[in-house]
Formats: sequence, structure tokens, C-alpha cells
Amino acid sequence: MDREFPGVAAMLAKAKKRIPHFAWEYLNGGIGRDMGKAHNRESLDNVRLLPNYLHHTGAEMDTTTTILGQEFAAPFGVAPIGLGGLMWPKVAEYLAKAAQGQNIPFTMSTFATATAENVRAQGGKNAWFQLYKPNDPEVREHLISRAENAGFDTMLLTVDIPVMTRREREFAVGLSLPPNMDLSNIIQMLLRPRWLLETLMHEVPKFHLLDQYVPNNLGRQGAAYYVSELIRGHQSVDQLKELRDRWKGKLLIKGLQSVADVARAKELGYDGVLISNHGGRQLESAPSAADVLPELRREFPDYTLLADGGVRHGADIAKLLALGADMVMVGRAMMYGVCGAGEAGADHVMKVLKEELVGTMGQLGVTRPAELKNCVYNS
Ligand SMILES: Cc1cc2nc3c(=O)[nH]c(=O)nc-3n(C[C@H](O)[C@H](O)[C@H](O)COP(=O)(O)O)c2cc1C
Repeated sequence: MDREFPGVAAMLAKAKKRIPHFAWEYLNGGIGRDMGKAHNRESLDNVRLLPNYLHHTGAEMDTTTTILGQEFAAPFGVAPIGLGGLMWPKVAEYLAKAAQGQNIPFTMSTFATATAENVRAQGGKNAWFQLYKPNDPEVREHLISRAENAGFDTMLLTVDIPVMTRREREFAVGLSLPPNMDLSNIIQMLLRPRWLLETLMHEVPKFHLLDQYVPNNLGRQGAAYYVSELIRGHQSVDQLKELRDRWKGKLLIKGLQSVADVARAKELGYDGVLISNHGGRQLESAPSAADVLPELRREFPDYTLLADGGVRHGADIAKLLALGADMVMVGRAMMYGVCGAGEAGADHVMKVLKEELVGTMGQLGVTRPAELKNCVYNS
């Protein structure tokens, strides 16, 4: 595995060759001219970490990280990715299982193509649930109860899709779930025989969590519109309070970036925040997590702050930790692992990221993730 996939870049290259073009465009795209996605990378590339070679304490390396009362083997986990089965069948189950094996968190999307019960069975306590909150109170309660009954304890409420945005790359390939069976898509699928075989061996991807709420006879486009309307809108303070009262487990908000928003999440009793711009897929000109983390950490020294966006190497994880994150979530890179190398790729990408993180920490002379906060080089 290491020879074929020495790093995430090799997994990305292989993934692109193994999945149909429409799935690739969905996975790899950002929004607009992809400047938000590029900015996530640039801002990580611009962080410099300063090594100290003569002050090592001699302590053993230990990446163990306790967050929200849960102990993990490493300070990173898997970010929620919707429509997973479109990119590779069973990807959520594979990543959840590998995450439990390596003792890192895995987040299941509301738009998953897997059932909550299966993901929880594969991921155990390491599986977290991401919620796009349905506007319909009955659907909302049903979905939340389902996550609860499946055994999820930690929930992340995503708030950064208040409106449906025009992602050009998705429009250009006519993205839909299940995929449209038009000539262009059929050719794309035939050109990816491994993907096609695996998909046929499992099942045509569908929204396992949401499909039951979509009225019959809407057709593909109608169903997609129904689902987008179901979750549309900004969260009011009352709605945020209602969810906080309803969910007994740990509850975080995903997609915040401003001091004012984080202050509100904290004051409403949310257990933490995932600082994110949705991988550059929603507001192209939004800052990156790397941009805003230092100020947020200064303002909220003891609040749980997770971060994501642009991570393609263990050193990127080290950088977000150094800028103030308690834990770093990884989206596309995890998918590249499975799309590039199948089930074994789930474990491999996590192992590679961890080894790169440990290598970076070793170079910096630190033995605990928290010590990375002293390593940012300011010229
Ligand atoms: C293909 C794709 C699908 C996504 N689906 C969801 C989702 O269903 N829910 C959610 O909260 N975030 C979703 N995100 C955002 C990710 O959770 C995460 O914030 C982002 O991917 C981090 O950036 P990275 O991909 O550069 O690591 C998605 C991102 C991608 C790339």
C-alpha cells in the first residue's frame, strides 16, 4: 500500500481515475471559481512551524486527545460527506469501521447513503452524527430520534447551508442521486468498470436517512428540490435552543467562523464548534479556518474548537492544531483514500495522516498535540 499510495496526492490521482466524472466533480469541486477551496490550501501552505531541536524533554510521543469527554488515539477525524455511495459504495461504513479501529471520530452525514444503524454498528462510539435540521417538526423529531435510537451520542448541527447555492461543476454534470441514466453518465460509468462492478454488487446509492420522508411520485428533480427545501433557512435562536434542549448528548455547531457566532453557540450551551467553510463549497470568499482560528482561540481560550478545510497531509493537521484547534476534521482526503484504494484505503489514509502528523511533531520536538500551539513561526 505504501508504495502505491505514499500520500494523499497519490490517492487523489487514483481516485480521479476510478470514479465517474460526475462523482469526481461533486467530490472535488468547490463553488464559483473554486477560489475558496484554493484559499483553504494556500492559508495552510502559508503557515510556518518552527522546530526546536535542543529542548526535547525525552518524553515518548503521545497523540492521545480527549475531546468532549471522549479519548481518541489522534487529534483528527472524518468530516461528514453527503452522497458517499455515489463516489464509492459503502464508503461511510468503511470509514466508520476504520475510524473505530484507529480510535478516531467519524461523522455521518444526514445526506449519507448508509443507514444510521449500520454506521453506528461499524463506528461504535467513535461515530458522530451530522444534522441538517429539517424544517418540518415531525420529520425533524423522527430523524433526531432515529439518530438517538441508533446510539449516537455526539451530534454536529451544520448551519452553513441556509440557502442552496449554484455549484457550477455540479450543474455542468447534472448531478443527481441516484445518477441520471443519460448517455453521458452511462458512458462515464462504463469507463469506470471497478466502480460500476462494486456499485452493482452493493446497491444503487440513495439517501437512506431521508428517502422515507420524500413523497412518492416526485421524480428525481422533484425529490432533490423537496430535500433542499426541507433543510433550507437560517437557524433562529429559538430553534437553536430547542435543539439544545432536545439533544441530551454532546452537541456542536458546524460551519461557524465569526467571533459573534461562536459566542452565541457557547452562550446557548452548545459543547463546541467546528470552524469550517464547508470545504470552500458554499461562500467562495469566506475565510479559511486557518485565517480565523488564532482570533477565536484568543477570544475563547477554554471552548472546544474543531477545524477543517484543505487538509491533505498530517502537517496540515499539525498546523490547524498549532493555530488553536483542539481537533481537526478531514473531508475529501478521507474520500480519496477509499475512492483510490477501496475498503483498505480507509485504514491506509488514516494511517498515513497519523504518521505524517507524528513525523511533524517529532521534527518540532513536541510530544503532545497541545504543545503544537507554541510552534507557529511569526516572522
Ligand atoms: C463532497 C462533499 C460533501 C460534503 N457533504 C457534507 C455534508 O453532508 N454535511 C456537512 O456538514 N458537510 C459536508 N461537507 C463538508 C465537509 O464536512 C468538510 O467541512 C469539508 O470537506 C472540509 O474540507 P476538506 O474537504 O478540504 O477537508 C461536504 C464536503 C464535500 C467535499
